[in-house]
Amino acid sequence: MTVPEARTLLDRADRVVVLTGAGISAESGVPTFRGEDGLWKEYRAEDLATPQAFQRDPRLVWEWYAWRRDLIGACEPNAAHLALARFARSRPGVTLVTQNVDGLHALAARLTRQDDGEPAPADDDPAMPLELHGSIFRVRCTACGRRTAHRAAVDATDRSTLPACRCGGLLRPDVVWFGEMLPARTLEASFAAAKAADICLVVGTSALVHPAASVPLATLGAGGDLIEGNPEPTPLSGRCRVTLRGGAATTVPRILDGDG
Ligand code: OAD
Repeated sequence: MTVPEARTLLDRADRVVVLTGAGISAESGVPTFRGEDGLWKEYRAEDLATPQAFQRDPRLVWEWYAWRRDLIGACEPNAAHLALARFARSRPGVTLVTQNVDGLHALAARLTRQDDGEPAPADDDPAMPLELHGSIFRVRCTACGRRTAHRAAVDATDRSTLPACRCGGLLRPDVVWFGEMLPARTLEASFAAAKAADICLVVGTSALVHPAASVPLATLGAGGDLIEGNPEPTPLSGRCRVTLRGGAATTVPRILDGDG
């Protein structure tokens, strides 16, 4: 009975915030951070995704990101990303918030517009997510701070081959690392949407990394309810009105599109 219950809750809600994590992209082929496939060589994300790790060994950190970028560049949005993009446009009051840096929500926003014969989505398209942790396909200069889109292959064989800014400074991935501040306006907009929401739909996150993991707590604190889609229990599970156990590519379309 959980799917009909989730659908009823969403139908009754005026505002919905959706928080996604790495698990929503798992069925697209993107490895999660804390699952069995979470290790790269012998490293955990926490060993590499820090400003200290980059300062110590930028080549190693870039090698990891180059590997992730190659892998993610070949991935397509799955049925969960596509269903969320359509859901966000199908009614007012939906805000998508993601911890993911893979760009698959934005790609789903584009693909669903294409399907409808529409031009590429603008930044304020409701299917475009608030990206709390940045983007793996953007870089930032460690010297002048300039940000640019960057999809070209990165040669991480040597410190001297790493990508450089036009000012000469070393470029780094424009993602938020452990110990760094999240982008202030994106964070504010996410929490404002979470507080105003009747429902927070939480998909594919272990809900361990704050402040992102506090987004659903803001909905709860303001009197709203949680729906969770995750094959595994999380620290949020006990506080959810509905928990849907299973892969996102199955559960999310079932509750949003009424498939099944
Ligand atoms: P995690 O790797 O911590 O958690 C992934 C979650 O997805 C787990 O709860 C899995 O049970 C679940 N999962 C696995 N397969 C799934 C599927 N097919 N459908 C739905 N869920 C599935 O990833 P995040 O919670 O996103 O931050 O991690 C949070 C942050 O920690 C990331 O943004 C990243 C990481 O280090 C930074 O890099 C700053």
